[in-house]
Amino acid sequence: MTITSLHITNFRNLAEVALVTCHNGLNIISGNNGSGKTSLLEAIYYLGLGRSFRTSAASRLIRQTADKFSMFSQLINDAQRDISIGVEREITGTTKLRVAEKDASSVAELAYYLPIRLINSQSHNLFESGPAFRRKYLDWGLFYQSEAFLFHWRQYERVLKQRNVLLRNRCSKRELDAWTDELLKYGVTLDMLRREYVEELAPLIIEITQELLAIPHLKYHYQSGWGDGIDYASVLADSYHEEVRSGHTLFGPHRADLEISMDGIPVKHFLSRGQQKLLICAMITAQGNLLTRQAKKGLIYLVDDLPAELDLASRQKLISMLSRQQQAQIFITAIESKMICELLGEPAEVPIKVFHVEHGRVAEGKEFPCFLAKTSSGI
Ligand SMILES: Nc1ncnc2c1ncn2[C@@H]1O[C@H](COP(=O)(O)OP(=O)(O)OP(=O)(O)O)[C@@H](O)[C@H]1O
Ligand SMILES: [Mg+2]
Repeated sequence: MTITSLHITNFRNLAEVALVTCHNGLNIISGNNGSGKTSLLEAIYYLGLGRSFRTSAASRLIRQTADKFSMFSQLINDAQRDISIGVEREITGTTKLRVAEKDASSVAELAYYLPIRLINSQSHNLFESGPAFRRKYLDWGLFYQSEAFLFHWRQYERVLKQRNVLLRNRCSKRELDAWTDELLKYGVTLDMLRREYVEELAPLIIEITQELLAIPHLKYHYQSGWGDGIDYASVLADSYHEEVRSGHTLFGPHRADLEISMDGIPVKHFLSRGQQKLLICAMITAQGNLLTRQAKKGLIYLVDDLPAELDLASRQKLISMLSRQQQAQIFITAIESKMICELLGEPAEVPIKVFHVEHGRVAEGKEFPCFLAKTSSGI
């Protein structure tokens, strides 16, 4: 699935933007600081995920003095058919989602058509922050990979919430049992799906990591959230008193983690910041590969400020690897487009289109099948 055109109205400083994108290659978004490059990526991200990566206050995304923002996009789906999707959000909070000329009921419908991954300066949160980030990483992939995933995940979250209410109210074990059975039913399937996903994904990450970083011996281990090698049912059965005391469910897939380590040491303790960023890129690209292989979908990569702290050789390897991804579409920001073109070398392996952003207005450059900018002048 790739974006062929994009129409953005009143999003951040982007008053009115209409673009025809390069749907099978690299879109370089160039412009000075504060021109609106990240806002453009943020708008695409919002279109696919129904939220921003910079703020949880959606009202801040509406252009000052406006009372709503909207984004519409024409996509080519995997069967080469055109399909349109759109989002509109008013200052009152009312949100309208549109997929293929019809109202959509949930963001999941948009996400299904627009698989998006963001690489930016915050990406290393995957290692530095808590397990929730790593669960989200896995669940993102499973959403596209497994038809059963979304149903089981939603059911598990519903039961978990209800069970926690009972535990907070110090219910009896008998009252809890029915909910424990339900939790088990969905939790065990969720656990199995995540395990299978990690098994498929890990060899791909290792392969790509070799190319980007050459770090051997990284281990990817999925921890279930109730202790390895122990039966989930007996853990829940034995923990009633402990759970009532704490007032919430202590064990299950909501406590799971993806442990990434070398010789038993978590990566955040021995990889440098730059190395961590490259590893994240490898992990995201591996998900893109699997998506194309299993779900026959192309990934849309949003790369903001080609992660700082990467040296020239690492930047070159990263850009070259991204541009070789099958069915992928890439949107990448840079102060000057020349910087990205030089990293790609001559001739570039992918079609490129350059856009120049100035005070929230976007000018389209030409599309080049294999293009290398030789001047530093704007587009
Ligand atoms: N709701 C809003 N309404 C109008 N303008 C806004 C709004 N929110 C942010 N801005 C402005 O939008 C401009 C563009 O911000 P953005 O982060 O997209 O710039 P950028 O091109 O990515 O800059 P940099 O190169 O520094 O990362 C900023 O000047 C910011 O103050
Ligand atoms: Mg920016």
